[in-house]
Amino acid sequence: MDIAIMGYGTVGSGTVNVLNRNRELIASDGGEVIRVKSILDLREFPGDPYEDRIVHDFESILNDPTIQVVAETMGGIHPAFEYISQLLAAGKSVVTSNKDLVAAHGEELVEIAAENGVDFYYEASVGGGIPVIRMINECMIQEKITEITAILNGTTNYILTEMEDEGASFEETLEDAQELGYAERNPESDVEAMDPARKLAILSTHAYCLYVDWEKVERRGITNITKEDIEIAKAMDYHIKLIARSRMIGPRLFAGVEPIMLHEDHPLARVEGVYNGITVKGNMLDDITIYGKGAGAYPTGSAVAADIICAALNKAQGISKTTSHHYHEVKPESYSSLGQEYMIRTNKEVSLPMEDIISGMVLEGPIYAYFTKQLKTQELRDLFRRLERRGVQVLNYFVVEAEDPVD
Ligand code: HSE
Repeated sequence: MDIAIMGYGTVGSGTVNVLNRNRELIASDGGEVIRVKSILDLREFPGDPYEDRIVHDFESILNDPTIQVVAETMGGIHPAFEYISQLLAAGKSVVTSNKDLVAAHGEELVEIAAENGVDFYYEASVGGGIPVIRMINECMIQEKITEITAILNGTTNYILTEMEDEGASFEETLEDAQELGYAERNPESDVEAMDPARKLAILSTHAYCLYVDWEKVERRGITNITKEDIEIAKAMDYHIKLIARSRMIGPRLFAGVEPIMLHEDHPLARVEGVYNGITVKGNMLDDITIYGKGAGAYPTGSAVAADIICAALNKAQGISKTTSHHYHEVKPESYSSLGQEYMIRTNKEVSLPMEDIISGMVLEGPIYAYFTKQLKTQELRDLFRRLERRGVQVLNYFVVEAEDPVD
């Protein structure tokens, strides 16, 4: 079957490599013989083995009746959204690795695909090579999913791991990560937690069959984490991780992304470097944790290739498996409104008794840190105010991984 790739960057070229390297395996495994007929990119690629397939005009793909499946690996919302809408309307199945697009317009594109009897798949938009959307949609179809806890951003996980291993500051580590090509030149989407909020919204929409708008997910990034915070965590056998969480309690959805101190026994505590880890809780099977490379040419290209093969198999059988969701939107409530324990770092010792709130001192001078009892958002704010009145400033605070937050 003829396919096209739009965008010959890291993920697009990784996808072509996966399809090429495993070509015989894919065909012998009951898959379709996949032929990459066209690759859309603005650039030329002299000397590339696929040089002769490079095209510069989208219409040549849209109007080619032999191309039945298209992979979009360009990134960005425009013109990806317009291209994909037109391809779906023209009866082609589309797969994408583009999380910004899926978080913003995924439901709309699913509708267009369903109306036109074709597929729209986006496994690679969350967790790179980790097949988490398929796991939720297919392997957990029998389960009522109640909770997701995940590390969904490789860049920030790399930075936090390096800060822990090297004792370096956030700024130094970010610079190194940019030089090594792990972090973008404009790292805002990663370090301010927009990227994992988008991915959490995509996963939550699938898991709970409710539409979750990523912009309404509360988030706190990692830019104000200091060497001292890492030192406190280490001293207590904890690791600071940027955790994306959502949880259904009755009809209410709680969601958030923030740095959390996880005890070293927690399954996600040792997810290091650019790896991602995702725990999904089902009401019958309890927790499943999957772990793997969350970014990079081959892992992400592998997830795109899997979607291409599924879409091609459906096309060959004349069927589509994409159905309209018509999910109703649920506004996520703040995860912090559930009671949680915190670690607070202060500028000086808390000398007056506060046993009603503070459960113990973690470190004393020159770094002062305390564990709190389980607090809700308002109670945490009250604590900060009480401390302030006593001349104690809270320099940073983290949720400490709690087994069972209560409403
Ligand atoms: N910037 C993303 C990350 C790339 O660091 O995880 C993969 O989605």
